[in-house]
Amino acid sequence: MEKKSYDMKTDLMQKLIPPALLLIVVLLLVNLLLYQYFNNAYFFYGQVNVEHNPCPHGYFRLGSLRNCTPWLSCEAIKREVRKLKRVGEGAVKRVFLSEWKENKVALSQLTVPELQKDFMHGLQMLKSLQSKHVVKLLGYCEEEFTVLTEYHPFGSLKNLNQILNLPKYKNSNMWQNRFLLAINYVSIIHYLHNSPLGTFVMCDSNDLEKVLSQYLLTSSFHIVVNDLDALPLVNKSAGELIKCGHQELQGEFVAPEQLWPYGNNIPFEDNLMPPYDEMTDIWKIPDVSNFLLGDVDGSDLVRFHLFGIHQACKKRPNERPSAKMVLDTYRNVLASLVRETVMPNTRDML
Ligand SMILES: Nc1ncnc2c1ncn2[C@@H]1O[C@H](COP(=O)(O)OP(=O)(O)O)[C@@H](O)[C@H]1O
Ligand SMILES: [Mg+2]
Repeated sequence: MEKKSYDMKTDLMQKLIPPALLLIVVLLLVNLLLYQYFNNAYFFYGQVNVEHNPCPHGYFRLGSLRNCTPWLSCEAIKREVRKLKRVGEGAVKRVFLSEWKENKVALSQLTVPELQKDFMHGLQMLKSLQSKHVVKLLGYCEEEFTVLTEYHPFGSLKNLNQILNLPKYKNSNMWQNRFLLAINYVSIIHYLHNSPLGTFVMCDSNDLEKVLSQYLLTSSFHIVVNDLDALPLVNKSAGELIKCGHQELQGEFVAPEQLWPYGNNIPFEDNLMPPYDEMTDIWKIPDVSNFLLGDVDGSDLVRFHLFGIHQACKKRPNERPSAKMVLDTYRNVLASLVRETVMPNTRDML
């Protein structure tokens, strides 16, 4: 009797084990496929952008190179850097894709001598503010008004929509990734407002295109700030405010305090124009975020959740939130939306 029930049990086990094994294998395969899919589709923040062993000030590490190299001098740039083709131009700099020891690099040169002061300020800022938020400096030659930086093939942030529409990246064109870029952008503003050297204002930002052209999109879909030529320092405790240039500014993109306040009857005069502070950058955040969020499934839902904080960014300067407050709100909104939509590996991203 006992033997019979034992036989029945083993018989049952033999029948059940193959389907169970099959189920486990199928589950493993599905998991693997899902992992592959999400790994391709989501930008994994916090992993790629942080150098575990950063170089000391005045040195850089590039691509496959293991060691830290000192910033290239005039002689080294002349000897070792080969210009390939022009990839960009603004008012101050002409930028060339170039080659240095089999690495692609960006060589920027002053366009016109009148803008030497802006060029030198940008270089000084690049040197002082090197961090994960700022394009990597590889060398410079002050006599020749030349700067060498890491090359980013995606170019400026203006190209975001074209890049995310390429077949290779189409899967990544989703609200989660675009929201991460907006968080990345606000964290750069937060860095500039709270840098080791004080509070800087991103002045080269009179319209959306202009703002976007000062930032680069890296191949790991991070944002770095690149053009620091118009970056004045606010020193509130010393009562020192700033003005973005000496010309009259117009349009809806700039903050209201950047506009001439005395109407059309009184002609603009720079020394009558009241100065302002870093809150102009906060005014512009909703417009930049709007571009970064784009027009994909879910981006309107994100906009809906950001409505309150974006409204606050458009208040009077001293009523606007700090970059830190905007950043915290963005992160909280992302966390709550992610909780609702079940997203893997979210902890890495926050
Ligand atoms: N490191 C780089 N990698 C790729 N493209 C770059 C790089 N640096 C600049 N560019 C391109 O050149 C353009 C102009 O550069 P920028 O430094 O903003 O010049 P300007 O000071 O004259 O405005 C950028 O908007 C971008 O398209
Ligand atoms: Mg520029």
